[in-house]
Amino acid sequence: MINTNQLTKKYGDMYAIRNINLELNQGDLFGLLGPSGAGKTTTMRIIATLLNPTSGEAHVCGHSILTKPKEIRQLVGFMPDFFGVYDDMKVIEYLEFFAAAYRIRGPERRRRCNEMLEVVDLDCQRDAYTNTLSRGQTQRLGLTRVLLHDPQVLLLDEPLSDLDPREHIEMRNLLRRLGSMGKTIIVSSHILPELADICNKVGVISEGELVVNADVSEWM
Ligand SMILES: Nc1ncnc2c1ncn2[C@@H]1O[C@H](COP(=O)(O)OP(=O)(O)OP(=O)(O)O)[C@@H](O)[C@H]1O
Ligand SMILES: [Mg+2]
Repeated sequence: MINTNQLTKKYGDMYAIRNINLELNQGDLFGLLGPSGAGKTTTMRIIATLLNPTSGEAHVCGHSILTKPKEIRQLVGFMPDFFGVYDDMKVIEYLEFFAAAYRIRGPERRRRCNEMLEVVDLDCQRDAYTNTLSRGQTQRLGLTRVLLHDPQVLLLDEPLSDLDPREHIEMRNLLRRLGSMGKTIIVSSHILPELADICNKVGVISEGELVVNADVSEWM
């Protein structure tokens, strides 16, 4: 579903990531762990085709990031660590705006937005203004947005950061639920314990290199 081969990104002489090799299958929930500056966001942005590698290659659902970025964008939902919401928009308007960008048309558009709001348990906020949501609700809205086009692959950059304990539990449950829907998910974090019991595979990235890449059952 996702594989990378010697994936490398350099800025000048500095390696942001170096020779990253990953192989993830459908339904894998892969935790990408590492301290600040380790290369988590760089890895995800390259797989999402938002950034070109310096060398190496990656494939998503059989498509090369180098030659088939359009096909890959249809298949991938990338949630950045921070994203803007438009203050004067309601939740449902915000989602319909993005659904339109994904070319979801007619009554299907609203149906799809409502369905995804239920999946993330945010339907009670559908008419709330986006700037009135809590951090956890905003994170779930960001997740709803990247689910609209029903991607097979989710790349979620630190979705658990800065959440209060209750929101943290809700987001972890949601990640589990998305994994059980058969999606292939990469989720990044600084903190091992928050991922270890929801992921089936885990990688540790340090100074751009993947120093651990294992099944959680073998590693723990
Ligand atoms: N546009 C850029 N120009 C120069 N260096 C960059 C650029 N983007 C990232 N880097 C460097 O690449 C390295 C990896 O950065 P990256 O953002 O991937 O780390 P990260 O693991 O996501 O960190 P964090 O946990 O803080 O989000 C860092 O040393 C960073 O300073
Ligand atoms: Mg990052």
